[in-house]
Formats: sequence, structure tokens, C-alpha cells
Amino acid sequence: MTKSLPPEEEIKELRKTLLRHSRLYHELDDPEISDAGYDRLMARLLHLESRFPQFMTQDSPTRRVGAPPLTSFESARHSLPMLSLDNAFEDSDVKDFHNRCAKILKSDDILYTVEPKLDGVAIELIYENGILIRAATRGDGTTGEVITDNARTIRFIPLTLKDDGLPSKLEVRGEVIIRKQDFEELNQRRGAKGESLFANPRNAAAGSLRQLDSRITASRPLGIYAYGVGDLSGISFESHSSLMGYLARLGFPVNDLMRPGLTIDQVLDYYRELEDRRDSLPYEIDGMVIKVDSSDFQKILGIKTRSPRWAIAYKFPAVEETTTLKDILVQVGRTGILTPVAVLEPVEIGGVVVSRATLHNQDQISEMDIRVGDTVLVKRAGDVIPKVTKPVISLRDGTETPFVMPRVCPVCRGDVHRIPGEVALKCVNASCPAQLKEHIRHFVSKKA
Ligand code: IVH
Repeated sequence: MTKSLPPEEEIKELRKTLLRHSRLYHELDDPEISDAGYDRLMARLLHLESRFPQFMTQDSPTRRVGAPPLTSFESARHSLPMLSLDNAFEDSDVKDFHNRCAKILKSDDILYTVEPKLDGVAIELIYENGILIRAATRGDGTTGEVITDNARTIRFIPLTLKDDGLPSKLEVRGEVIIRKQDFEELNQRRGAKGESLFANPRNAAAGSLRQLDSRITASRPLGIYAYGVGDLSGISFESHSSLMGYLARLGFPVNDLMRPGLTIDQVLDYYRELEDRRDSLPYEIDGMVIKVDSSDFQKILGIKTRSPRWAIAYKFPAVEETTTLKDILVQVGRTGILTPVAVLEPVEIGGVVVSRATLHNQDQISEMDIRVGDTVLVKRAGDVIPKVTKPVISLRDGTETPFVMPRVCPVCRGDVHRIPGEVALKCVNASCPAQLKEHIRHFVSKKA
């Protein structure tokens, strides 16, 4: 009945109804509707408020449910909390971690299994009698969102497990990722269609996983690596590495850079090896996770409120920093293509001072709404040119100015054309001094 009302009216009605039922339930202990019925009304209100944010109020009952009332995903409580990890930033932090473990275990004969710390999104997959019955995001660690339909579209996630000794319930945890190459292609496709761009593969993975329409998720190049488990209904493994071997046999992708059974010195050596290989890996990693291998030891060490005492993340130096975008210059290349270049307040990223960065093209600048004067996120990975990935909109003070590409060539003042089917602008004056200069530069360069 209420559904035929205009949205504003329906929202008001829903709020009144929800308030009444909430009173009946909490104060009078005399509910008139089922919990599920209440949840449906709440879901409807959440949905309407997200579609018509102009009707949102401070005292709406949806504010009580806390956390972002994002969508109409169902929420799921994890049977065991999905923990986070403490961070280490230098060798001495890792040695301290080792010493803390050794003290509790009364032995410093501890072996570790290490894995890359994948920069993606955590997921939990629940199997009952070998069949994937639920997938959820991490959420706040205690409660996440049910994304089963979306997870089912990721072809690396087994839908059924074949094994004789399967436990009745198996909760597998891992990281959903998008490879660097796939990320670039995805963004290119989005740019060409005039859609907003993802700042990095992690955002792209998160955005893809939390789609209400699982057909969209299906069209995204998502991958996954398993890194642990939740509840195993009774079965146990003697070590983290044997558990990972089991998951691999069940058909879960397990990262091939995992190294089992290392001493603390070997752990530190491997950290340097991984750091050297970081840029050449097909996916982004932001550190190395160090886990005490023995399950008995893990049990003794136990967990703190939010993180296990038996594991730590040894982070790599940041490749992303924020700084001020002071100006945007337009360069003219050898073929006449105009490229905007970010002039930055110099900032040190991974040991190198960066004062220029690429912005790609006007479309990307408009799509990301990057303005001169913005605080921006700048990313520098390996030898590639640093790039502005995102403006920090919350830090604006109103003095920032939007940027538009010039209509004439900034060097020769000649005509600028848009290349058909592309986003790039081009100076069409063949004798443009900028092009000539770049021609000569190219002619004498090693590449030519
Ligand atoms: S283990 C009990 N292993 O890092 C330990 N986490 O800060 C829980 N992550 O939310 C995590 N790669 O999403 C683990 N090889 C790895 C990981 C990994 C990435 C993420 C994970 C977690 C966060 C912890």
C-alpha cells in the first residue's frame, strides 16, 4: 500500500511505522510484526534514503543501525572475527615481534611462513558440505555484507569442493584483487565510456565486489588468493603452511610467493627480495605478512582485541603520498598531442622527490574532478612516471580552480583538434616549434 506513495511520503510513513514497532518491541515487549518484517521495512527505508538523499534526516531510524547504510546488501556476522594485523615498518619492529613471541613461547626456535600482503579486499567464503553457500565482506571485522552472488561470478572461487575428508563447514578467507594490467584496461574502457575512473586496483576490486548487480561483478577481472580460514568445524592442521597446502588441494588459489618455515633472519632476507620484486609483480602488494607457522604456537600466542599475536604485517615504504597540486602545465609532444602535467609541491615518495606527475588527459581530470590547488594523492611505482590518482575533496577550502585544456596550442597558438574516437587533443600545425623540438629530441634519443 505504502509503495504507491511519493518517495518523501513513503519515507515519512516508514519512519513512523519503524519507530512504533521499535517501541512496541523494546519498551512494551509486545511486538506486532516479526523481526524479518521489521528488517524488510528498514531495508526499504535504507533503499529510499540512499536513492533520495535529500530526504535523509538526522533522526531517521536508519541512523541507529550505524555504519554506512550503503545499499540493500544483507549483513552477516562472522562466526570468528576477521582480524586485522599490526604493522611493522623496519627490521627492529620485526625483531621485537619475534622477541615478544619467543618470550611467551619460552623458546626462540620459531619458524614463520611469510606471504605477500596483497593490496585488495578481504572476503570470507563459507562452504557447507563442500558447497559455497555464502560469501561476505570483512565489514567492521565482526559483521560484513553478504555478497554471495557476486563471489560466485569470480571464476577462481570454487563453487564446490571435491575431497573425501571435507569438514561439514569450512570458512575460507582470502583477498580479492585486480591485476595491474587488468586495472589499467578496465580504467581505459571506463574512460572511453565517460565513466568515472578507479584510483587504484584495490578501489576497483572493492567497487566491483560490492555491486548490487552481480552481472557487473561478473564483467570485472577479479582474482583471489586464499590466506587463511575462519571456523573449520573441528578439523585442525599442525601448521599454517600445511593448512595452505590443504586449501590449494581443494582448489583455492594460494599465492606462489608464500614461503613456509623460515627463521626470523630468513624472513628479513626474503622481505628485501620481495621488495625488489614488488614492481615487477602483476598485482599490487604493500608488504609482507609474517605468520608463526606452528598451530600450537599460534594457540598459545592467541589474539588481542583486533589482531593476532602470532602475525604481523611488515609494510613496504609507501608509494603514495599526498601533496598540493600547484598548477597544471600543458606539454606538446612530438606528434602534437597535448598532455597536461601536474606541477606539485615537491614531496618525497619512496626516497625520491617528486615535483611533476602525469594527469593523462582532460577527461580524466574532469572525471576525477581534479582542481588546481587541490591536495592530491600521488603514486610512484618503480620507474614509471608518478601519477596523480585522486583529489582529496574533503580538504578543499573553496579556492581550488577547475582546469580546462586550452583551445589553442600553448606553444604555437595554432588550432587544436580532438582525435576522433580518442580523448587526446592534438596540435595540427606541422611546423609547431614544440613538435619540431620533440622531433629532434626523439631523433637523437637512444630509443630512436
Ligand atoms: S592474514 C589473522 N594474510 O590484510 C590474520 N591478510 O591487515 C588476518 N591481507 O584484512 C589476515 N594479504 O585483507 C593475511 N597474506 C595475507 C594478506 C592479508 C592481505 C589483508 C587482509 C586483512 C588485512 C590485515
